[in-house]
Amino acid sequence: MIKLADRLDKIKPSKTMAVMALAKDLKEQGVDIVDLGAGEPDFPTPEYIRDLATKAMADGYTKYTKVDGIPELKEAIVVKLERDNNLTYSTDQIIVTSGAKQAIYNAMMAVVNEGDEVIILSPYWVSFPEMVKLADGEPVFAELDPKRDYRRTLKPFEEYVTDRTVAVVLNSPSNPVGSLLDDEFIADVIKVSREKSLLIISDETYERITFENKYKSIAAYEGAAELTLTVNSMSKTYSMTGWRLGFAAGAKELIKAMSKIQSQITSNANSIAQKASVETLTGDQSAAEMMKDKYWERRDVVYEGLSNLPGIEVNKPEGSFFIFPDVSAYYGKSLNGKSINGSVEFAEFLLEHAKVVVIPGIAFGSDNNIRISFAAPREEIKKGIERIGEALNLLN
Ligand SMILES: Cc1ncc(COP(=O)(O)O)c(C=O)c1O
Repeated sequence: MIKLADRLDKIKPSKTMAVMALAKDLKEQGVDIVDLGAGEPDFPTPEYIRDLATKAMADGYTKYTKVDGIPELKEAIVVKLERDNNLTYSTDQIIVTSGAKQAIYNAMMAVVNEGDEVIILSPYWVSFPEMVKLADGEPVFAELDPKRDYRRTLKPFEEYVTDRTVAVVLNSPSNPVGSLLDDEFIADVIKVSREKSLLIISDETYERITFENKYKSIAAYEGAAELTLTVNSMSKTYSMTGWRLGFAAGAKELIKAMSKIQSQITSNANSIAQKASVETLTGDQSAAEMMKDKYWERRDVVYEGLSNLPGIEVNKPEGSFFIFPDVSAYYGKSLNGKSINGSVEFAEFLLEHAKVVVIPGIAFGSDNNIRISFAAPREEIKKGIERIGEALNLLN
């Protein structure tokens, strides 16, 4: 028998697997399922970007590259960060990674010692705490206040900091709540992080998918630039999830440490994706804008639809393609003797009786909620909400 490392015991298996497996079974049986569970854009990668990859291959960009990325892509990232985020970096402050995910993992491995604490705002993207644990650290959850639209933590930020804290992860707009952190809260995080020498890891994966309010990068706030690692990705902005291309910008010594780790793990990000990303980042941005506008329209449909359902409390996402309604008013209710006592059971109920896939909030640290993705066609979203409404009527 193969003896696995103790490390595995610390990592949680995905709580959403059961619901997803059931959804897959039903789909295979030909059941008409509305899938609002997706964690990625429903659009194909724009054709001009696919053409850039074809050209990159024809031009021979098919070999290992420098560990931290091809120079022209690092230049393009510098241009992007200046243009969109008002941030000034030099190319030796940039690393290209296999997705934002690897950038964050590299950073954790670079700064976390055994027993060190990393503050994670909760509800959180599923991988943040697991990555801290893989680096032998302890995730400390700072709960966001739903009454204030998840824009700041319940307690003052400094109350989550101990002598063991080394970093804080911010994710605005966030997966799963779609909120933007408020300026005052961010200023507070920066102040405390400066005092306690914490690294701020800012996951800005959804930065370009924002609606009424334009996004301001964390590093662009006063006093934040030196302590912030800005992480971003091609995945969501350009619908390039499978290409595995992300990047990070920050202090030279941190970027160097992250490169050292990456050099022994994956060497470099995919060479073809790197080459295609140069023009994607610096050229015409209309495809990304078009997708953003579609998410915005759908955000309005899903927000309005859910707001009209009795007993559901919903925040209005300011970015991303997720909404995170509180459905706990239905906990304790039942149908045919089967009662609902948490988000997994609620999601199972919706799958069974509404034929709609949603993700239980417990996966993101909040059992009162479900995550609904609006990376789905508008008509599907409407149909999904209608069906949810009908199914809820069955509960008593
Ligand atoms: C908050 C957040 N960060 C990072 C990622 C992963 O991005 P990438 O595909 O660039 O690794 C996701 C994907 O779901 C995400 O939601």
